[in-house]
Amino acid sequence: MKVLALNGSARAGKGLTARLLAALTRGLEQGGAAVTVREVARLKVAPCVACLKCMLKTPGVCAQNDDMQLLYPELQAADLLVLAAPVYTDNMSAQLKAVIDRCISCMQPFLARGPDGRVRHPLNWSMPAGMLLLSTCSFPEPATFAPLIATFRQQAANFHSASLGELCLPGSLALQMRPQRLAGHLNLLARAGGHLARQEPIPLPLLLAINRPPLSLDEYWEICQDYEAACRQRLGG
Ligand SMILES: Cc1cc2nc3c(=O)[nH]c(=O)nc-3n(C[C@H](O)[C@H](O)[C@H](O)COP(=O)(O)O)c2cc1C
Repeated sequence: MKVLALNGSARAGKGLTARLLAALTRGLEQGGAAVTVREVARLKVAPCVACLKCMLKTPGVCAQNDDMQLLYPELQAADLLVLAAPVYTDNMSAQLKAVIDRCISCMQPFLARGPDGRVRHPLNWSMPAGMLLLSTCSFPEPATFAPLIATFRQQAANFHSASLGELCLPGSLALQMRPQRLAGHLNLLARAGGHLARQEPIPLPLLLAINRPPLSLDEYWEICQDYEAACRQRLGG
């Protein structure tokens, strides 16, 4: 099985997203999948300019010549697309959103009804059959992910892809100050990767365990005292 993982963090390999993705990738590879990780912040991908040439002039082919030309064949070859999408202002980062918008070149201009009765575009070429969301955010509440999850599910449906689940770990602000607190979740992510590589659904108890915040609210607040002190120091007292 081929997996394309897009890390949407502006900090590329230095953020928490990269650590979570490395754990998932470890499990995927141990399960036999071939994984390509792309750090979107290192690519040059311009926003869609809505010229609609991909729909009406050169079907399936985007007119812009940038690093999407590297990603298109990888998207077309992958069976699973992992969106490693940290929360930026309640949704995915602009870098990752630009990539997703540019994927509308897979769509024909025509309209059809999807299996849920909603209007969709038929496809020029297929996006990966499955999509998975992996995310983190600095605030501690799982509810922070709600708009991103809704966006992700709708994107998967519009690309005619199955959404295989959402793996969302809140509290990155504190977790980055206590990275050892992540160890259990990293192991769980690797286990999830093993299931995905074997083309099995992630078992519900595992899905629930991954989505259980690694830190309680009390622990989060306690660690954030140190964070605030560090901020004040950097600001000069
Ligand atoms: C522009 C920007 C907007 C953000 N917006 C939110 C937000 O709305 N909610 C939240 O909990 N965290 C927010 N964050 C924090 C990130 O989700 C958090 O720092 C996460 O760890 C970033 O991923 P990374 O560690 O891989 O870089 C934001 C960060 C940035 C840079």
